[in-house]
Amino acid sequence: MRVLVTGVTGFVGGHLVPSLLWADHDVSVLVRDREAYDEPEGLSVFEGNLLEPGSFDEALGGAEAAYYLVHSMRAGPDYAERDRRAATNFVAAADDAGVERVLYLGGLGEERDRLSEHLQSRREVEHILADADFALTSLRAAIIVGDGSASFEMVRQLAVRLPVMVTPQWVDTPCQPIAIDDVVTYLVEVLDVPELAGRTVEIGGPAVMSYKEVMARTAEIVTGRRPVIVPVPVLTPKLSAYWVTLVTDVPRSVAHPLILGLKNAVVVQDDSIRQYLPIELTPFETAVRRAVGDGAATPEPKSIAAGER
Ligand SMILES: NC(=O)c1ccc[n+]([C@@H]2O[C@H](COP(=O)([O-])OP(=O)(O)OC[C@H]3O[C@@H](n4cnc5c(N)ncnc54)[C@H](OP(=O)(O)O)[C@@H]3O)[C@@H](O)[C@H]2O)c1
Repeated sequence: MRVLVTGVTGFVGGHLVPSLLWADHDVSVLVRDREAYDEPEGLSVFEGNLLEPGSFDEALGGAEAAYYLVHSMRAGPDYAERDRRAATNFVAAADDAGVERVLYLGGLGEERDRLSEHLQSRREVEHILADADFALTSLRAAIIVGDGSASFEMVRQLAVRLPVMVTPQWVDTPCQPIAIDDVVTYLVEVLDVPELAGRTVEIGGPAVMSYKEVMARTAEIVTGRRPVIVPVPVLTPKLSAYWVTLVTDVPRSVAHPLILGLKNAVVVQDDSIRQYLPIELTPFETAVRRAVGDGAATPEPKSIAAGER
């Protein structure tokens, strides 16, 4: 199939492209700066910017399907407005080009729970993309564990750098981390499931855990010790966002919206995607080991390694 991938210089798009090529799709990518993109062999590269209508029409020409993996948090506080414009421009151009299917990866979380600004903006993009002639499949995920994921990098650096953490109550919020390999598998396979065109699906890893558990287990794998985590009611998410930017090198423009989103439970409520794609999910420990590569301090326990897959 002829597919266009946006956001390929980012975390998810960068991991997706090799798998699409491997699955024998005819892949085109849209980048804002061709010079800065280390392009794999076997694809067509188009330069354009979703905020500039007309600059990316050529990239959509002839595409049967497109992946929308763009967000602009890195560019600073007005990200919601930029993301709204980018999605609106994309819908107009994709409909003009006759694209039949679009796949979008957004965030989990219940709208009735008052989503954070970041999660709300991701949901707004989903609604904009859904209001188009093409059939949208929206996949919603929580924190993705993988090399280059800003949210996982934040967790990893906190867990590794702080043996003792005084944290706000958000550490008890439940989440369902998923390995980047599993996200990529879903994104590739969904293309071959026509029943999922026009639907929203939720994806998650094999275990629901609190952010506290996510940090403790990550620290254990990377450093060999579990940190002491003490939640206190007086530490607001806003204060903790400042504290996170002091401890980690995740840019403030990204860390702040992500931290403010940690108050929202991000757990799969509807796993109907598994009727169509019952893929084998990667255990959290394996996902972390793959993400940190040689950075893992503790060897994988034999009993877990044998039984986990
Ligand atoms: N990472 C996670 O843990 C996670 C979890 C759940 C859902 N998701 C979702 O997955 C999707 C991708 O996230 P990510 O983590 O891969 O993001 P990312 O690493 O920040 O990548 C964002 C991409 O968007 C591109 N972009 C931004 N503005 C653009 C514009 N105006 N025109 C064209 N391209 C533009 C960037 O290109 P430049 O290089 O030119 O800036 C970059 O390639 C998002 O919808 C996100 O909500 C991610």
